[in-house]
Amino acid sequence: MESIKTDILIIGSGIAGLSLALRLKDLGEITILTKKRAFETATSLAQGGIACVTEEDDSFESHIQDTLVVGDGLCKKETVELVVKSAPERIKDLIKWGVKFDKDPENPEKFHLTLEGGHSRRRILHVGDYTGRAIENTLIERVLEIENIKILENYFVVRLITENFLRPSKVIGAFVLDLTHIKPIIFLAKVVALCTGGAGKVYLYTSNPDTSTGDGIALAYQIGCRIANMEFVQFHPTCLYHPKAKNFLISEALRGEGAVLLNAEGKRFMHKYDPIRKELAPRDVVTRAIDMELKKTGAECVYLDISHLPSDYIRKRFPYIYETCLKYGIDITSQPIPVVPAAHYLCGGVYTNLWGQTDIPNLFAIGECACTGLHGGNRLASNSLLEALCFSYQASIKIREMWEELKKIPFKEPSVKELSIKEIKKKKYSFLTIGI
Ligand code: SIN
Repeated sequence: MESIKTDILIIGSGIAGLSLALRLKDLGEITILTKKRAFETATSLAQGGIACVTEEDDSFESHIQDTLVVGDGLCKKETVELVVKSAPERIKDLIKWGVKFDKDPENPEKFHLTLEGGHSRRRILHVGDYTGRAIENTLIERVLEIENIKILENYFVVRLITENFLRPSKVIGAFVLDLTHIKPIIFLAKVVALCTGGAGKVYLYTSNPDTSTGDGIALAYQIGCRIANMEFVQFHPTCLYHPKAKNFLISEALRGEGAVLLNAEGKRFMHKYDPIRKELAPRDVVTRAIDMELKKTGAECVYLDISHLPSDYIRKRFPYIYETCLKYGIDITSQPIPVVPAAHYLCGGVYTNLWGQTDIPNLFAIGECACTGLHGGNRLASNSLLEALCFSYQASIKIREMWEELKKIPFKEPSVKELSIKEIKKKKYSFLTIGI
């Protein structure tokens, strides 16, 4: 079986994987494996933005408190503090790589900040209503400029390879299926990073892309890593309800800018469930309220209405949502948008420490596939891209620290029973036949 040596193997091509590769570009050969096209990630679909304290009258303490409250008392405080306090530096990384956040039209020196549920003030940097796509495209562009970073598309990781197959000690590579040529390949690496995103696709209705199938979590679990908080799946209150729309989110930023929720009778209802925060209550509260309204009325959806704001403003502030809804025959400048809650984010995942390290040496997990303790039982809006960015930084610091030692250790070829495609198809062998 073909085997390929790479210093660092990154599985997944969203913000976590791409930013990690950029941070480590001087260390050696880096390979990013992705099971579809590089841009087909949850990052690309993120609309709202990235939460970060940038204004003098905002404070880290306030962002920390908002995260802890929304996390329902289940967050790890030291992770929350680390992420919130390092956010301004991590935003600078994105700007250095070329991401252009929207500026305040009144004061172009400052960022335009939006608001989402659970935040006690405006603090979300964004690029229109397509922040994730802007970040993904920019990072892919940067990565493609670097010769020693390769992105391999249509490569599906089947199993991680460890030293001591029966009692995994450290990770040394991955057994991979090249989906284009239906060919198994071994990748040998000194460090492996799981950046594979969440698992929304286990639900019928989700805002996630087709790639969100929990692969990284399964890979880590197979070799004995702890997995935590898998019961905490966040439902986003407002996904477009239309027979032809797939996974289309209607960003919480619409509510931040004044959109209101209406039931099937055209009446507002959030004041009955959360009299103070109403539409800007945390996602779990708004989702439960919508679910209750649907159950009470028997309706199939509720409506999100932003049409009371000036049409020009709506088209300019939410161009992507405006255009997409129009394709489905909904003009959001004059009509309410039919919406339902859908599975959005996995708060749990592969348990890691503050450096993104898992229980297995040399294996890191970063982004939605990881459980760092930031989100507790429920993630605060626009903390997800931030977490991925912060932990790719943390992991890069740790990998650099380890690198002098790691680079001296030769790659180890696992002993492998050769599997023909015919045999794999017949399921005559399990992939467990790999070990050293
Ligand atoms: C949204 O734009 O509503 C999603 C942002 C997030 O998931 O944090």
